[in-house]
Amino acid sequence: MAREDFKPGNMLYPLPAVLVSCQRPGEKPNALTIAWAGTICSDPAMVSISIRPSRYSYDIINETKEFVINLVNDDLVFAADYCGVKSGKDVDKFKEMKLTPVEINGVSCPGIDESPVCIGCKVVEVKKLGTHDMFIANVVSVSANKKYMDEKGKFELNSSGLMVYSHGDYFTLGESLGSFGYSVRKNSGKKSGESTNKSANNNASDKASRNANKNTSKSASISVSKSTSINVRKNTSKNVSDKSGKNFGKNFGKSIRKNKYNK
Ligand SMILES: Cc1cc2nc3c(=O)[nH]c(=O)nc-3n(C[C@H](O)[C@H](O)[C@H](O)COP(=O)(O)O)c2cc1C
Repeated sequence: MAREDFKPGNMLYPLPAVLVSCQRPGEKPNALTIAWAGTICSDPAMVSISIRPSRYSYDIINETKEFVINLVNDDLVFAADYCGVKSGKDVDKFKEMKLTPVEINGVSCPGIDESPVCIGCKVVEVKKLGTHDMFIANVVSVSANKKYMDEKGKFELNSSGLMVYSHGDYFTLGESLGSFGYSVRKNSGKKSGESTNKSANNNASDKASRNANKNTSKSASISVSKSTSINVRKNTSKNVSDKSGKNFGKNFGKSIRKNKYNK
């Protein structure tokens, strides 16, 4: 197979691009978009976010040692792009994007109420790496939005329209290809070790059961400008997989599209 070597760089995609909120006591809350974020330990639950020192949020988080990671879904993707290209130095992003600050247990800065999940974090270490400093933090609370719970109270995170960032573009999740451990499960339809790409894609029972959970009653539209809007997940009777993999826009910065920002 013909392949080409690119110069070493960041090519670990797709990634969640999250809205990280922070606040100095007595000042306005702020949020910036972070793609260089990750889960780094299960117990204690720990995460990391990498921030350039030039960001307005950098000093706030460095001083307060607190932040909230807000997962981004299709309702929030426009705001996430905006918060990733505008600085809190110049604008009140919560106000401009009509984000609702919400109290999060364990931290004194707010989360974003519109987000499916807000993760309260307390910084334990700051590592200087190069262009970015990595903030290593303990997770002190997880707040789930009841809007994404079914009648039985089950949290349907994968039906909440989560956004992923890949190589400059934003997408929703594609259809489920299987669930954790399905390759070795007895009823996977294949003997252990016989798994191929084809068997993964054809695992009908697994897919069907996952997709059955994906019917959504949600109707949302993302305001792009005064005259345009991207309608997402409008058709309530259709399976989400029909609409999955939606690409929200060509390259980040679409929300202002004037100058190019470098993460
Ligand atoms: C999709 C996306 C991902 C980004 N990821 C990061 C990141 O991981 N680290 C970072 O320092 N900046 C990142 N940025 C840029 C900041 O979000 C951006 O500079 C923002 O305006 C900083 O806001 P602030 O000055 O209010 O802190 C990203 C921007 C976008 C659009």
